[in-house]
Formats: sequence, structure tokens, C-alpha cells
Amino acid sequence: MRETEQRAARAYRETFGEESGLVASAPGRVNLIGEHTDYNGGFVLPCAIDRRVAVAVGAGGRGGFETRLYSADFDQTRQIDGKDSSWADYPRGVAWAMGEAGHEISAFNAAFSGDVPLGSGLSSSAAIEAATALALDALFGLGLGRTDLAIICQRAENDYVGVGSGIMDQYASLLCEAGSALLVDCRSLAAQSVPLDLEAAGLALVVCDTRVERGLADTGYNDRRATCERAASMLGVQELRDATEGDLDLLSGAELKRARHVISENARVLEAVEALKERDFQEFGRLMYTSHASLRDDYEVSTPELDAFVRAAEQHGARGARLTGAGFGGCAIALVPRDETAAFTNACEQAFAGHGFEEPAFYEFVPSAGAELGGT
Ligand code: GLA
Repeated sequence: MRETEQRAARAYRETFGEESGLVASAPGRVNLIGEHTDYNGGFVLPCAIDRRVAVAVGAGGRGGFETRLYSADFDQTRQIDGKDSSWADYPRGVAWAMGEAGHEISAFNAAFSGDVPLGSGLSSSAAIEAATALALDALFGLGLGRTDLAIICQRAENDYVGVGSGIMDQYASLLCEAGSALLVDCRSLAAQSVPLDLEAAGLALVVCDTRVERGLADTGYNDRRATCERAASMLGVQELRDATEGDLDLLSGAELKRARHVISENARVLEAVEALKERDFQEFGRLMYTSHASLRDDYEVSTPELDAFVRAAEQHGARGARLTGAGFGGCAIALVPRDETAAFTNACEQAFAGHGFEEPAFYEFVPSAGAELGGT
């Protein structure tokens, strides 16, 4: 068992006074390319990171009538009812969405522990949802597939937690494979693993947390989504996935800019997959830089800190760099020659200090396995 899984199992034993029997864990993610395309029916290419949320589950207390949720990281116990904007809303949302989808679940006990950085755009919320969904599926013998579980997790996020996100994060957390990125067609939900052997290419995936807090629900995320829907209806297409560059002549203002990003980004994802298959990281990196410019200029979701990181990356030998996730703060990624990462992060730190920005945090992640289930 991984350390997070052991901690969850131990927390269960100490809190509920018995062995849990089942432990599931699910990772956070970074998106390599394909941003703000998922809710437009387009393509994304995330990979899971080696940071996870684990949950140990067992039958509920008081003869199976009471559900209790415990977080070892916050040392808090919560009931299943009473949405309170805490970590507990994610498992509550998953249990609710399972019921909404017609699956019988009764009371359960759950203990959580994780090491996905919180609030940085690395999808700690999708990780807790995916771990919960996989664990409850096993506990109640629902026999659901990973795609069904991802849809349930997205429903939890959209309709219980109240964030109108697409399906990328939950999909990545449930379906990614170690050493690979995952190409997802967010309309058909067909997914395909694409080998991402960074080590053989002599590269490292460096993540820069700008430490600028993102607030997905109260930022421009929903606003961007609404503009895309407006642009699609102006063009008479179901989703921007169906629009082409030629259609852009019919748009102006914000609709033009947002649509131009989505159309070009979808094309970049498919080109990036081809580049990965040929191990052409030069081309892959170029597409990352172009994606960032499009998110900065057309989608307008970058920040001065994210831009400073990408500029520093360009100046200090990164093959490619871009913001990852929703933007408005959070994290950016860069592909950096393995033996240059220390000099690279130093140079970025200096650039941040020069601008008077908060000191960033750096991580190096390895493309990791999606959600997994085990016994205790
Ligand atoms: C957030 C959302 C995802 C996706 C990205 C932007 O991470 O949760 O569904 O829309 O933003 O690509």
C-alpha cells in the first residue's frame, strides 16, 4: 500500500474501531494540453500525478444506519447531511449523485488522507471524488465502469458542490495509466492512453504553483463557459467542437476570441498527440507555448505570475511551458531537460522575486496510475 493509503486505513481503524476492509485511492492531475475544451465537447490530454487522495471505507455505524466521514488531514468528522463548503462536500456529492443515478447505497464509514496540494488547480477535488466513487462502487457491489463513475463524479461537482466544470479532471483521475497521458474525446468520452516516456527523452515535468489562489466557482470560469455557449449558438452548432476556423468571420468581441482559442486548441491537442507518438518533444513543446499564448490573449485566463513563469521557461531552456487547469492563478507546467531542473527553478524563482511576486512552489511529477482499489 502507498503511504496515503496506509494513513487512510490507520485513520479508519483509529476512528471507527475496526478494520475497513477496502481502500481506494485516486490521483490529482496536470493537463498537458487542451484547456477549456472539455465543456465544449473537445479534446484534452491530461496525465495523473504521483499525489493521491486515499479513502478507507466500511459499513456504516449504529447497525448500518449512520454515515460518518473522517479526514485525517483536517482531523475532522462530518455527517453525510449538511453541505458546508468543506472537504466533506465531495464525498457527500458522490453519495448523492450515486443515489440520483438510481444506485442503492446505504450508510458507510469513510476515512480520508491525501497529499494532493489543495487549491492549486491540481484537482484535489476530483481525486477525493474519484476515490470515493471507486470505494463505494466496491463496498456496495454496484459493478459500475470507470466512465460511469466519472460521470457520477462530475454530477457531484456540478450539481452538489455547484461548480460547472467539464469532465476532464474526474476522467483523468479515474482512467489515466502510469507512464502515459490520456487523450479524451469529451463528446464521445472515448479515451486512449498515449505513452509519455519523459525519462527516456531526458525530460522532467516541472510544475510551478504560483500560489495565487484560484476560486473556480466565483471567477470567470462560468462566464467563459457561457460565452462559448453563446458563440456556438450564434454559429448554429451544437458545441464549439463543431465550429471551424472559417466560422470565425461570423463572430466578434469576446465570442470571437473565446471561439478562436477553443478551435485552435482542439487542433493543437491532436497535433500534440501525433508529436508524442513520434517522441517529438520539440514540436510538443512548441504547441504548449502556443497554447499558453492563446489562453493568455484569446481566452484571457492567465495571470502576470503564470505569464512570468512561461517567459522564464522560454528563456531558460524549457521545451515547452503553459498554464495548466482553469487558469486565474494556480499552476503552470514546463518540460525541462532532467539535468537542468535545479538551475531552471532557480531562474524562475529569481524572475518571480524580480517582479515582487510571492515565492512560487515547484514540484516534479511522474505520470502515474489512475484510481486503484485494494483491501486492507
Ligand atoms: C478546470 C475544470 C475542467 C476544465 C479545466 C480547463 O480544471 O475542472 O473541467 O474545464 O478547468 O481546461
